[in-house]
Amino acid sequence: MTEQSPALDNLLTESRTFPPSEDFAAQANAKADLYAEADADREAFWAKQAERLTWDTKWTTVLDWTNAPFAKWFVGGKLNVAYNCVDRHVESGHGDQVAIHWVGEPGDTRDITYAELKTEVSKAANALTSLGVGASDVVAIQLQMVPEAIFAMLACARIGALHNVVFGGFSPTALRARVDDAAAKVVITSDGQFRRGKAAPMKANVDEALEGAETVEKVIVVKRTGDQLEGDVPWTDGRDLWWHELVDGQSEEHTPEAFDSEHPLFILYTSGTTGKPKGILHTSGGYLTQTAYTHHNVFDHKPGEDVYWCTADIGWITGHSYIVYGPLANRVTQVVYEGTPNTPHEGRHWEIIQKYKVSLYYTAPTLIRTFMKWGAEIPEKYDLSSLRVLGSVGEPINPEAWIWYRETIGAGRTPIVDTWWQTETGAIMISPLPGVTSTKPGSAQKALPGISAKVVDDQGNEVGPGGGGYLVLDKPWPSMLRGVWGDEERFKDTYWSRFKDQGFYFAGDGAKYDNDGDVWLLGRVDDVMNVSGHRISTTEVESALVSHPTVAEAAVVGATDPTTGQGIVAFVILRGNAVDGGEEAIQALRNHVAKEIGPIAKPRQIMVVPELPKTRSGKIMRRLLRDVAENRQVGDVTTLADSSVMDLISSGLKSGKSEE
Ligand code: PRX
Repeated sequence: MTEQSPALDNLLTESRTFPPSEDFAAQANAKADLYAEADADREAFWAKQAERLTWDTKWTTVLDWTNAPFAKWFVGGKLNVAYNCVDRHVESGHGDQVAIHWVGEPGDTRDITYAELKTEVSKAANALTSLGVGASDVVAIQLQMVPEAIFAMLACARIGALHNVVFGGFSPTALRARVDDAAAKVVITSDGQFRRGKAAPMKANVDEALEGAETVEKVIVVKRTGDQLEGDVPWTDGRDLWWHELVDGQSEEHTPEAFDSEHPLFILYTSGTTGKPKGILHTSGGYLTQTAYTHHNVFDHKPGEDVYWCTADIGWITGHSYIVYGPLANRVTQVVYEGTPNTPHEGRHWEIIQKYKVSLYYTAPTLIRTFMKWGAEIPEKYDLSSLRVLGSVGEPINPEAWIWYRETIGAGRTPIVDTWWQTETGAIMISPLPGVTSTKPGSAQKALPGISAKVVDDQGNEVGPGGGGYLVLDKPWPSMLRGVWGDEERFKDTYWSRFKDQGFYFAGDGAKYDNDGDVWLLGRVDDVMNVSGHRISTTEVESALVSHPTVAEAAVVGATDPTTGQGIVAFVILRGNAVDGGEEAIQALRNHVAKEIGPIAKPRQIMVVPELPKTRSGKIMRRLLRDVAENRQVGDVTTLADSSVMDLISSGLKSGKSEE
């Protein structure tokens, strides 16, 4: 198990509960009987949820689990995912409903109705087809939060191509690895992006990434920053095309083709315990069923009435499942915001909520803690009375932040849904139901109706009330990952081998039951860090560090951080001939990691040490390094090959070699 921080210990003694108001409960989409309904017949329950969608051909079998862990859901069914997210809403008479209130960072806005969304997605689908992109081809997308990102994803879905969205903050090296692994045929990006009031280049980085990339035939470039970007946009004739030149002239008509329920929808790369990111594969029918079901019930979304805002980036799974697929399948009206929360001022989110009367707001604990730091007087200046459900995702939310969120943003009135899930699960798995659950600050509480999760011990036996252990999912679910792209063995090893005998999916998280049987998430138990709700593997950062010529060895740990959840702390041994750990050398190392992976992986702190603590078999004892990183008394050192190492490290640090 990972070390528990004092905050996690506190949360285990948390006993406040917040039942929904009678009014809220009475009007809620999900009532208490949903649990019993699902328990009575899980497959019938999921079949009913799948009826939310429009199928071209109905399925014959709800679930085929005979070839576990490779699931098939809604076998024999056919549907078009983009049709479900767009066209059917126009056909049912809601073409004039706003789908997206888009807000650009500089203050420009664009309201896109479902009819307009249909036109844009159809044109983009025709454009991709004109480039020879067909079903099962892969399109990589590295775009900031502009409407074209959503058009592009839906256009891929419409023609049966897989998208592979790469977060805009990832470095050229990281982009290239994801383009190569998925053999992407087309890359979609922009000239530049606005970031904290400045135009920064995007296309230049993409070009650097694609140098010599063999699979990429075309690069489509959305013009976003235009003249505001310094210098020319690098251009390769014959390969590069402007989005507006390619897409604008296309026909607005496009007939969506129905694809098999198990047709691949997208790949999204996520960090694992090794240096190489995993391409998580999701398919169509089951994924859309569960994202739509959870969005409807967890956020209590009422189409045509609510205004929803999920603040995630489409580069992450939350953006895929809770900006694009689930919400649009449910005919949402939603805000999509391009920029950072403090541009041009720290009240930007509250100003947007006030302007669009946002009623459902979904964000991450790291941002809530940042808002707390900025001060309650900022949101207090705005009218937030439209809010009726608040959501949290990405990491355990500490009770202080939870209470602040409810009191300051939700006026002490709104239910908070703390939603636990993963890139791999595709959709929310453990969460309160806002009209049913008496919520507890810091607990994700119970698996949703239709979902089964357990906390088990080392042997896979379920622990009792008050007991802690590993979180597993013991029954297949519709939006589960269908594999790791191109690596069947890694899929089985990573998720299904830890509790092979029982056939459990191992989530990688530690968890605990309280005396009511509610689940409290305790963070990762493997070598994966959670920085601002983003998964970064220790090995990935270590590999980046040792790829620098001055570094001989590196060990990386996630240390508790009051704002980002965890911060990356690296311990490095420099090569004999390297300059000794001065400010500049350390800054160069931090920049090197940013270049290799992306700025999100930049270590908060790098400590130069003479040795690393290792067991006799050579395994680095991260537990001890975490003690150092969190300024704790160093724990038991008896299993170290050389127990004096920790003294060496501590004395080295006292001599002032730590950074920042
Ligand atoms: O450790 C858990 C944490 O985030 C991990 C999944 O990360 P990712 O695939 O990037 O997806 C993030 C968005 C779904 C989990 O293994 N996590 C996510 N949500 C919560 C959480 N930990 C505690 N509480 C949550 N609500």
